[in-house]
Amino acid sequence: MNLIEENKSLKSYNTFGVEANARYFIKVESAAHIDELLAGNILKNNNCLILGGGSNILFTGNYDGLIVHNCLKGINTVHETATTVEVEVMAGENWHHIVTFALQNDWGGLENLSLIPGLAGAAPIQNIGAYGVEVKDMITQVHGIDLRTGLHRTLGSEECAFGYRDSIFKHELKEFFFISSITLSLTKKHHRIATSYGAINDVLKQQQITKPTIQQVSNAVQQIRRSKLPDPTQLGNAGSFFKNPVVSETHYKLLQQEHPEIPGYKSVNQEVKVPAGWLIEQCGWKGKRIGNCGVHTQQALVLVNYGDSTGNEILELAMRIIASVKSKFNIELQCEVNIK
Ligand code: EPU
Repeated sequence: MNLIEENKSLKSYNTFGVEANARYFIKVESAAHIDELLAGNILKNNNCLILGGGSNILFTGNYDGLIVHNCLKGINTVHETATTVEVEVMAGENWHHIVTFALQNDWGGLENLSLIPGLAGAAPIQNIGAYGVEVKDMITQVHGIDLRTGLHRTLGSEECAFGYRDSIFKHELKEFFFISSITLSLTKKHHRIATSYGAINDVLKQQQITKPTIQQVSNAVQQIRRSKLPDPTQLGNAGSFFKNPVVSETHYKLLQQEHPEIPGYKSVNQEVKVPAGWLIEQCGWKGKRIGNCGVHTQQALVLVNYGDSTGNEILELAMRIIASVKSKFNIELQCEVNIK
């Protein structure tokens, strides 16, 4: 059985919806597919890129190597107590489907991460986070296969070196570690309701909800996301294009002298996290369209493809934004999206 396709269009495999071809492409739907991949020469002789939902990647040209598209499916309870449940989720499951599944069972932990695009396997890589919660808070294990050796490995949460939109899978284990599943620990009772992230409380207040259930928190998060973030099926995008930069307290104080209204949130080591969306908006980019791409009207952190943009056009726009922010604020924005 030859599972590997050649010259495969990636347009429907990246949420920016840009045109690019992969020299080789394989959909991994079972352990047998992995065995076949490991046995052949294409993996050994080519660069390899593991692709989930394509919601955090920008292709700036064809990919001259092998794309391994993770389509492993399944959700299984592996351990349960009176108050908690551990579920193993296969990496190819749609993230929001897992959130919905947890809510249907009244399992808490994932509600603030509602509606994040992408697949479960990508969640630990960039430690997805939203509205005051990060997936590292629920991940107990990450399971995968080293594609160079074929060896299986399970990493405990502490071995994953999770940070803000960061993990070991972006560094030491980059490119060759195929995440096959993740284990999440969720609450069955005494859910930890986290609504302190500004907009959630406002939405709940409008609905006169004072003691929200996890489903109501999820509904509020979904309402906020739908109002601010474009739906990738309607308008190509990859969520936040940049990370929120962290600056020293001294730098922040200097910035405050010139821009007294600059927002900032205390981070670790006396540093301050500044919303990149604010910096970009101050540089006049919010809602701006340049040719076929632009900066979203409701959230300046998000770059959008109005239809026929190439990856390079989007990258060029990103570079112009980085240069503006550097020149106005002396802050170097880093891309959150993977550029290929
Ligand atoms: N802001 C602006 N203008 C903008 C956007 C934001 O002034 O156009 C300022 C406002 O001061 C606002 C603050 O930025 O109060 C924070 O904005 P928001 O709550 O929208 O969050 P964010 O910091 O821009 C981060 C994540 C999002 C996540 C939200 C909610 C990053 C890079 N992004 O955005 O994650 O949904 O918080 O938790 O950390 C993603 O990673 O793809 C993503 C969408």
